[in-house]
Amino acid sequence: MDSLRIEGGARLTGSFRASGAKNAALPCLAATLLTSQPVRLTNVPALRDIRTMTALLAEMGARLVWDEATGEITLDCSGVFRLEAPYELVRTMRASVLCLGPLVARYGHARVSLPGGCAIGERPIDQHLAGIEALGARIDLSHGYVDARARRLVGARIPMGLVTVTGTMNVVMAASLARGESEIDNAACEPEVVNLCDFLRAMGAEIEGDGTPTIHIQGREEFGGGDFAVMADRIEAGTYLIGCAMTGGTVSFAKADLAHLALPLALLRRAGVEIAGDGETVQITGPERLTAVDATTAPYPAFPTDLQAQWMAAMATADGVSVVREEVFENRFMHVAELMRMGADIRVDGATAVVRGVDSLSGAPVMATDLRASASLVLAGLIARGETCLARIYHLDRGYEHLEEKLAALGARVVRERG
Ligand code: EPZ
Repeated sequence: MDSLRIEGGARLTGSFRASGAKNAALPCLAATLLTSQPVRLTNVPALRDIRTMTALLAEMGARLVWDEATGEITLDCSGVFRLEAPYELVRTMRASVLCLGPLVARYGHARVSLPGGCAIGERPIDQHLAGIEALGARIDLSHGYVDARARRLVGARIPMGLVTVTGTMNVVMAASLARGESEIDNAACEPEVVNLCDFLRAMGAEIEGDGTPTIHIQGREEFGGGDFAVMADRIEAGTYLIGCAMTGGTVSFAKADLAHLALPLALLRRAGVEIAGDGETVQITGPERLTAVDATTAPYPAFPTDLQAQWMAAMATADGVSVVREEVFENRFMHVAELMRMGADIRVDGATAVVRGVDSLSGAPVMATDLRASASLVLAGLIARGETCLARIYHLDRGYEHLEEKLAALGARVVRERG
């Protein structure tokens, strides 16, 4: 397994451009199951999870060509014959569950493995199933699989029991081909939900209200093809934003890449970061030392849970004490133990972590456990005294395209060691 060697002390400087968003590309790929017409997706990042999703679609019978260098995928799902997402694939990538809604809506049947838990929490899919059942599907659970059937889904009013990003996406995709009108209440407002709806509209869907808690959908008989660009990855951009702030560097970002990071930018400004915008780019300059600022995660537009670990790495050497609360997932503090091995002073009590800023961290051999915890350890390595060796970086390869190249281009001293 590969590892990453990071020599701390370099300030990130230069310019950064985000790749396509993993969490927008995955639902868009699943949505191609909704049409028998050819589809072209661009700005698709070359990531492990995307490879897993394309492998799943190919297993089902989709024909696809993916040029990883350009980020373009052309797909034709007219020949899909296998309406199943098997356990071997779902257990490696829970987003495979996003095939459930499209398969039931278009083919009247889906057999999808239950994803099981993961490092950051139990992550059930009860809301996905309740929404698709409300649209008239019969749902049976047996042998670790969901079996969903419906002659034709029928529009309904669907109050989501809690805010769930992929749950909202699954129900939107299912309702978009149902007969009649649907209203989804308590929907997730994440930009990736809006991006998926933009893609569905490009194929002919009638959807309004996405980006708000109430989404209205007029079901269609069938979809046409589509040619669609996946949005920029706001979590990748946020990760590099925090890295720039922590290292006291100056990095220019495309304004579009920061469009959905209003709250992280507001907290960074309070922590002492200078933000100077001119036209298409924004210059971010980190202070000599960040000031401690509290953060609490919640669904968009609140502070994103996917930046919580990175924020904690930044607060580890900030001036003062900060309180970081993880309100979305029940076990998303795996980075804490590793940060403490690097010298951080963090006290965890349930969903709350109290971070007392120390003068510096020391490089150490550390272990990646999940995608964003790994990212926080990379950031900690950038500012630590000495060398940090991060093992099991396949977690990082799931969500950060060309990570070491992008960091090295900004002046970081980072090398991937093939293991
Ligand atoms: C999406 O996961 C993202 N993944 C996650 O990003 C992100 O952290 C999360 O949204 C929150 O923003 C993708 O988009 C592929 P949820 P998702 O359903 O949809 C509970 C990353 O690092 N819940 O919004 O699975 C759930 O357990 C990944 O890129 C139920 O109880 O998250 C969690 O506590 C990690 N029942 C909370 O809701 C359900 O049916 C929010 O989960 C669904 C969810």
